Amino acid sequence: METNQQQISDWNGPVGERWLTYNDWLDERTAAYGQAAFLAAAPQAGEAVLDIGCGAGATSFELARAVGSGGRVVGVDVSEPLVGRARERGKALGLPVEFCLADASRPLFAPHSFDLLYSRFGVMFFDDPVAAFAELRKTLKPGGRLAFACWRAPAENDWYGLPLRAIRCIVEQDAVDTDAPGPFAFSDPQRVVRVLGEAGFEAVELRPFEAPFYYGRGETREAMTEDALSQVFRVGPVARLLAAQSEQVRERATVAIRAALAEIATEQGIAVGGATWVATARAP
Ligand SMILES: C[S@@+](CC[C@H](N)C(=O)[O-])C[C@H]1O[C@@H](n2cnc3c(N)ncnc32)[C@H](O)[C@@H]1O
Repeated sequence: METNQQQISDWNGPVGERWLTYNDWLDERTAAYGQAAFLAAAPQAGEAVLDIGCGAGATSFELARAVGSGGRVVGVDVSEPLVGRARERGKALGLPVEFCLADASRPLFAPHSFDLLYSRFGVMFFDDPVAAFAELRKTLKPGGRLAFACWRAPAENDWYGLPLRAIRCIVEQDAVDTDAPGPFAFSDPQRVVRVLGEAGFEAVELRPFEAPFYYGRGETREAMTEDALSQVFRVGPVARLLAAQSEQVRERATVAIRAALAEIATEQGIAVGGATWVATARAP
């Protein structure tokens, strides 16, 4: 299979479709983590920025506002539906941003094209992360910056772990392979430092950042629980795990996850843990 083919097919198939359907929900839930990486990236007026794995473009628009009309932002992503949405959303905004439907690990841009490489959860999906980041590094100007957000370990991220734990006795689950492409591929900080170092980056630093991940909202605890429950079944690991299960198993899973969510409902909503690394580095 060609490099990154599995991810390209997933993000152009059911995973991409789910991200497209629930994009507003996901943008809201991941905004704080992206903002932490944005602050570390410190985009400046007039800069050229690449937003890696830009999805439907929310962070590309924020970057474009920061660099202003004298700057330029390119959002790159392999997902046709998400890039389509990004282009559509961008039309009315009049920002200095363009979107490129392509695999970011390929030699797409001239050397020294960008001042800054940024990503919100879009860099953990490469089959060969060293080769991908080495290619991306070449597109940076000398001394150019890299800043991205990636998830820490599954055990520290209850948006992932809580619903799965609730159905441990109902559906068989494989352990997460944190070396394989996927949301937790950069959860091991030593792996990130090694990958970026071998790809030729300098001054690699990882800073922990945590923020609550709001699963459910609503006027009452019951309403919040039902809101959270419906989302658990729409995006994330449970949606994938239960897709091929019988109606009976799905019903048992619903009861178990509803109980686990109801237990943590507060006046403010249903918030679970979200833990990330904000990684920064420089090109030599
Ligand atoms: C978790 S989503 C994050 C999307 C977006 N950054 C956001 O925060 O809304 C990961 C994104 O990475 C993209 N992606 C995965 N592999 C890629 C690759 N090799 N090149 C470019 N984009 C890729 C996916 O299509 C998807 O849009």
